[in-house]
Amino acid sequence: TVTRRQDYAPPAFWIDIVHLTFDLEPTKTRVLNKMVLRRNPDVPAQPLRLDGDELNLARVMLAGQGCSFRMEGETLVLENVPEGTEPFELEVFTTCNPEKNSKLMGLFMSGGDFFTQCEAEGFRRITYFLDRPDVMATYTVTLRADKARYPVLLSNGNLVDEGDLEGGRHFATWHDPFKKPSYLFAVVAGQLVAREQRITTRAGREHLLQVYVRPGDLDQTEHAMNSLIHSVLWDEARFGLALDLDRFMVVATSDFNAGAMENKGLNIFNTKYVLAKASTATDADFDAVESVIGHEYFHNWTGDRVTCRDWFQLSLKEGLTVFRDQEFSQDLAGTPSARAVKRIQDVINLRAAQFPEDAGPMAHPVRPDEYLEISNFYTTTIYEKGAEVVRMYQTLVGRDGFRKGMDLYFQRHDGQAVTCDDFAAAMADANPDSELARLLPQFKRWYSQAGTPVVKAQGQYNAAARTYTLTLSQSCAATPGQPHKAPFVIPVRMGLVGADGRDLPLQLDHWQRPVEGSHTLVLTEPTATYTFVGVDSEPVPSLLRGFSAPVDLEWEATPEQLLHLLANDSDPFSRWEAGQRLALRTAIEQIAASAGATSAAPLNDAYLAALRTVLRHPDLDAAFKALVLTLPDEDYIADQLDVVDPQRIHAVCDAMALQLATALQADWAWAFEEHQHTGAYSPDPVSAGRRELAGLALHQLCLAATHGGELVWPGRAYQRFKDAGNMTDRLNALSALVGSGHDLAGRALQRYYELFRHEPLALDKWFSLQARAPDRGGNVLPQVRALLKHPDFSLRTPNRARSLVFSFCHGNPAAFHRADAAGYAFWADRVLELDAINPQVAARLARAMDSWARLAEPYRSAAREAIARVAAKPSLSNDVREVVTRSLADH
Ligand code: ARG
Ligand code: ZN
Repeated sequence: TVTRRQDYAPPAFWIDIVHLTFDLEPTKTRVLNKMVLRRNPDVPAQPLRLDGDELNLARVMLAGQGCSFRMEGETLVLENVPEGTEPFELEVFTTCNPEKNSKLMGLFMSGGDFFTQCEAEGFRRITYFLDRPDVMATYTVTLRADKARYPVLLSNGNLVDEGDLEGGRHFATWHDPFKKPSYLFAVVAGQLVAREQRITTRAGREHLLQVYVRPGDLDQTEHAMNSLIHSVLWDEARFGLALDLDRFMVVATSDFNAGAMENKGLNIFNTKYVLAKASTATDADFDAVESVIGHEYFHNWTGDRVTCRDWFQLSLKEGLTVFRDQEFSQDLAGTPSARAVKRIQDVINLRAAQFPEDAGPMAHPVRPDEYLEISNFYTTTIYEKGAEVVRMYQTLVGRDGFRKGMDLYFQRHDGQAVTCDDFAAAMADANPDSELARLLPQFKRWYSQAGTPVVKAQGQYNAAARTYTLTLSQSCAATPGQPHKAPFVIPVRMGLVGADGRDLPLQLDHWQRPVEGSHTLVLTEPTATYTFVGVDSEPVPSLLRGFSAPVDLEWEATPEQLLHLLANDSDPFSRWEAGQRLALRTAIEQIAASAGATSAAPLNDAYLAALRTVLRHPDLDAAFKALVLTLPDEDYIADQLDVVDPQRIHAVCDAMALQLATALQADWAWAFEEHQHTGAYSPDPVSAGRRELAGLALHQLCLAATHGGELVWPGRAYQRFKDAGNMTDRLNALSALVGSGHDLAGRALQRYYELFRHEPLALDKWFSLQARAPDRGGNVLPQVRALLKHPDFSLRTPNRARSLVFSFCHGNPAAFHRADAAGYAFWADRVLELDAINPQVAARLARAMDSWARLAEPYRSAAREAIARVAAKPSLSNDVREVVTRSLADH
């Protein structure tokens, strides 16, 4: 049944205290749950209804006595609880089967150890409870287990007691001093070892930080620990938010649906975001560890201390915490250029994932209005667009104003479960004289309206009047359930770039004095006109600097204007964007041109010359160069089109890529030689940038080589692959070979397998690389099918399933969208197969077909048929059902 935001009602009971006792056994874990409850006096008297899911109920005791109860489906209903508002005790005794728990929600096993995942609604798979975030309780947890098999027993908070029991068993008792919702509960038990670090923070308090992993993985925890230390220090320095626990634990498991989970004091992580060593993790992996460690740690305040009233408010904690982890990574990156690179990468990700979501059947507001399955709403809209909304507050009130808003938010709401409205109010109230405060009700449309707004820009220079007039207008397409949109508040950061390449001073006609550099225009109307005065010669506008709002900017710039920005713009984001626009325009023209007749040289000389200038530029950083020299990807191009022919897009992209590789061959060779590094591996932004650019160059050179270019490069790539001192260089060399289709690719893949067959995260890359390989005559799908049968493949391990099946369906459009529909049939089979194992992961895979309705024939009909086949399965999970039903609605 559908849950609606407008139906929110406070709970009829509060649970203040919880005592849990676990007897941990793989196939039958016993859970004794003693709760102290009381009626909520603000709600009319009603029966107590406790959530449960796949539990075996053994006993219920009310105030120490047996009592009557009944089941309504999975809900445990007690009619005869005491009247009045006095606290009373309820005891529930259940068992569950962690070993059979392939959904990985609740209590499950991974590598023989116990882990939990409770967000959003997993706690009800551990015991009967009011499993909703506005019910906050104090937890005391006793874990009992075989001592030899499970030497480490962890839960939230502080260890208050431990000791031995009869029969080789032992116990540990944990007490969490902070009240928390059930979704933040966690248990870990198993054979784990920890890297430990004691730190003293500014406030002078001592803390023990621990990173727990399986024995043998300890050498891969240094980066996670350093990231954690940086996180603690950063949150205190930037937001005045100190660690509030004596002990903070991070634990890694290789079976996890999501990236990680912010359980109070006991964060549980996918190994992918904890383990990193130079020989198996790339620079991007190191960055991901840093940002996810930061993300979960920052949740301690934005999520745990102040949590969500209900799941419609999810972006309250996720959008805010993503914003915080993005800021953290930027601050750690250090230089302005490295900060900009991080910002551009975040925008690339937003556009690659969130823009299509906003344009597809699953489009929903940052604060959704309804859901069938809440797990489906852990989306890029809630997370990344939510972060952009938080960033706009900061843009509107400034960094100091934002800090004031955060301070007020915690002053008001520490220890509470609140809403997005509460956050917005704190930001506005802390900045009463700001544009934000004035525009707050309209600004909040970012929470209620789905869809990516389009901002159209038009500029007009008047030489006689020495004015430059900029007209901005906004619109937003209909999304499911929202046919009409009201105007948004859109901060458009901009500058005017003069003929000499420098920013002109900006002076609007109504201002007294000009400002230097950039200014933020706040667009609130459907259309607004801004006239800049005192402009001596025609400038080029640089718009949406820093990507100041999550919108699509439509601007009919001339190629000359874009080339001017690419050569000069002081804002690195706009500079990069100018190059992307040039390439995008070429791609779209080529795609529109007579089908089948792809030009062998679609990119014009001026563009290629501009790229060469960037590549050889003496002052630009390598990481930035690599971004400018990377063409927009096939999915981003598809997103710009009304009718999508994936093969046509692929043909054009292939031609552009090949031309870029060949035309700049000498420059690529120079770049490769110039960006070799010496000395020990370090994942810092400067050396990572150099590796990135060298890797891109090698890729281009191998591609050129297989198309008549310089022949030495595949051999050199193979050599580099063999001798590389770190995974970044090794994987770049391997993907250069695989990407170019050279004969050496097979040999390299074989060798890689032998090297890394016992390193799960490195082996994931091996599966993924093959699933993303360029399609030659339809060879990738059979290859993927064969890999499904590989002894190291398992659909039950989410990371492995993602590395092969998702990489193919989500990450290789040309191989997936086959004229014979075999890609779609493969997708449907895997969705159904996965749904019986792990509905959350299956539903993610189901979303690979989100954009089917815009496909050209024959793809469209074939896709529809495959989705309909999935939808027709009677015993579908809510997760998958919601995705496929929405997909087929209105078609
Ligand atoms: N709160 C976690 C995080 O963002 C993610 C939990 C994922 N849960 C889910 N049902 N998908 O850090
Ligand atoms: Zn989060």
